[in-house]
Amino acid sequence: MNLTNYSRVTEFVLLGLSSSKEIQPLLLIIFSTLYLAILLGNSLIILTVTSDSRLHTPMYFLLANLSFIDICVASFATPKMLSDFLVERKTISFNACLTQIFFVHLFTGGEMVLLVSMAYDRYVAICKPLHYMTIMSRRVCIILVLISWCVGFIHTTSQLAFTVNLPFCGPNQVDSFFCDLPLVTKLACIDTYVVSLLIVADSGFLSLSSFLLLVVSYTVILITVRNRSSASMAKARSTLTAHITVVTLFFGPCIFIYVWPFSSYSVDKVLAVFYTIFTPILNPVIYTLRNKEMKAAMSKLKSRYLKSGQVSAVVRNFLLLEKK
Ligand SMILES: *[C@@H]1O[C@H](CO)[C@@H](O)[C@H](O)[C@H]1NC(C)=O
Repeated sequence: MNLTNYSRVTEFVLLGLSSSKEIQPLLLIIFSTLYLAILLGNSLIILTVTSDSRLHTPMYFLLANLSFIDICVASFATPKMLSDFLVERKTISFNACLTQIFFVHLFTGGEMVLLVSMAYDRYVAICKPLHYMTIMSRRVCIILVLISWCVGFIHTTSQLAFTVNLPFCGPNQVDSFFCDLPLVTKLACIDTYVVSLLIVADSGFLSLSSFLLLVVSYTVILITVRNRSSASMAKARSTLTAHITVVTLFFGPCIFIYVWPFSSYSVDKVLAVFYTIFTPILNPVIYTLRNKEMKAAMSKLKSRYLKSGQVSAVVRNFLLLEKK
């Protein structure tokens, strides 16, 4: 088949979360509020962890990194979705669409590996407490963070390699609020069976293997914790519950969209809200509201800045962190 005769699609039309015109202002208000909460909550975690030396431990460094990835996950598509609530015809250029695909797989792939690193950190802390300081050194921590970003990068470039050369010649409606891979490949005007299979295999391999690693490490930890019963174990248990909640809420939708073969695209759209909006907002809630050390550090931070009138320093810190 000679595809050069076809006119090439230069832009896609996003159908958005809902087609009802009346509901758009309401969605705009709800999602703007959620997005603002994501930015503030996660920036606050990063600020608290970096400014309190008692929180300079591997667990809190990884948590701050998770907050940073959460801001990224929430930011690659949400601002565009918010401005799209205001217009009727929501278009996105071909290149912007590929950029969104690139970032969604970079950030979610990175987040998956980071969650595994956090589980590994808890495993060492609880099951090998005497060797914790030597195993989870600063260097190992940095390496774990770098590995997360590298895996995310390799994952996303391999996914894009399948898509970037697909011919698009007519249909251009993406039934979601951002360009996601299964929805976009469906629009190509060749048979995409093999490409879809490769995408499912690629995403499925990453999400299922991370998920299995998480299940195994949390099972080992839970078995270890069950046989002890001290106050420190109660604390460990509450940390674990927080981790397991986040992991379930993040992996559930991802695995459902990419691995479950019978999912329908309209369900996928709602599930995508889970990992782009709800998980990023839940991390600050789950990790800080239930965590005494975090709460203490935050009130210390508050009184320090309020007493010395260093509001401008807070603002400056925020801006520096945003740039990073
Ligand atoms: C991420 O983790 C590294 C390594 O522990 C740490 O140096 C860095 O400050 C963390 N990044 C953030 C944003 O907290």
